[in-house]
Amino acid sequence: MSENLIFNGEKMERKKIALIGGGQIGGVLTQLIAQRELGDIVLYDIVEDLPQGKALDIAEAAGIDLFDVVVKGTNDYKDISDAHLVIITAGLPRKPGMSRDDLLSTNANIMKTVAENVKAYAPNSIVIVISNPLDAMVTLFQEVSGFPTHRVMGQSGVLDSSRFATFIAWELGVSVKNVNAMVLGGHGDTMVPLVRYANVNGIPVMELLERKYNSAEKAKEVMDAIVQRTKMAGGEIVKLLKTGSAFYSPAAAATAMAKSILYDEKRVLPTCAYLKGEYGVDGYYVGVPAVLGKNGVEKIIEISLNDEERKMFENSVNAVKSLVADMKRLGY
Ligand code: APR
Repeated sequence: MSENLIFNGEKMERKKIALIGGGQIGGVLTQLIAQRELGDIVLYDIVEDLPQGKALDIAEAAGIDLFDVVVKGTNDYKDISDAHLVIITAGLPRKPGMSRDDLLSTNANIMKTVAENVKAYAPNSIVIVISNPLDAMVTLFQEVSGFPTHRVMGQSGVLDSSRFATFIAWELGVSVKNVNAMVLGGHGDTMVPLVRYANVNGIPVMELLERKYNSAEKAKEVMDAIVQRTKMAGGEIVKLLKTGSAFYSPAAAATAMAKSILYDEKRVLPTCAYLKGEYGVDGYYVGVPAVLGKNGVEKIIEISLNDEERKMFENSVNAVKSLVADMKRLGY
């Protein structure tokens, strides 16, 4: 893995990416990362033969998709040694009627083991946690591993924001490529889609909606429905799938974060990041815009919130705090 390559006379090393959890998201992640040649991939799962089977299946598409990375499945943590980036999806997904918080104790046990092994075998890695309940799992990973906080983050906001942007694009009949929309706060029903900042190539979305309906009242009604759908989007998919939760879009979201880190793109992405006083929050992981580059979370971007937005953000932060408190009460 990550053998030395010679390119234009220079020695270069392909990055190594470890994916912990070879279920639905882990499988799609493997394929997306291979197709983009972000690095060599090790897919780990506790279920015997599952990651090996998925890795082989995906690797055998190399002759079609023409990627030159190694894809390996394993049940042995030793194989993740010295990974540059680790993405964690290990855990159980939501079943219909279950909240993300119901998963808390089951997934906390799993996350503890994962964190101990990542610490042992990939001590210098940058880590993206996807497992739910996200805000608690990312906190637990950081505490158990002791990694510096800028090297540990969670995926939630990239997906929530993509859902928000997609619904806006559908409503306005414009390309989603021109929609900028962001969701802050925790990865739960209290998340805060920022309506005031949502725009289409700089034009405020509310202005476009008011023009479309020729009514400020109707525009607000339509936007309220989009916001509500965004907040409940994960549950909408759980209800349809019946046997699990969303996996294509979470994998796409984490791939965008991984690429920004591995290519040092410094994209500004809504990230579940550790706050040290920013947004008036100290010592908690909360979804905020952050610059992602080769060092992980390189900068938290603070934006001004009006009274209403701040109230919603604080409500969301309180939900994160109570989730973390529940986890502590359970002894984690
Ligand atoms: N170590 C490694 N992998 C584990 C462990 C463990 N201790 N325990 C379970 N797993 C594996 C399972 O074997 C399974 O293959 O984690 C994988 C989870 O995959 P799925 O059940 O398909 O769940 P997925 O849809 O991929 O979601 C994973 O992300 O969005 C969240 O809520 C979601 O917490 C869930 C996680």
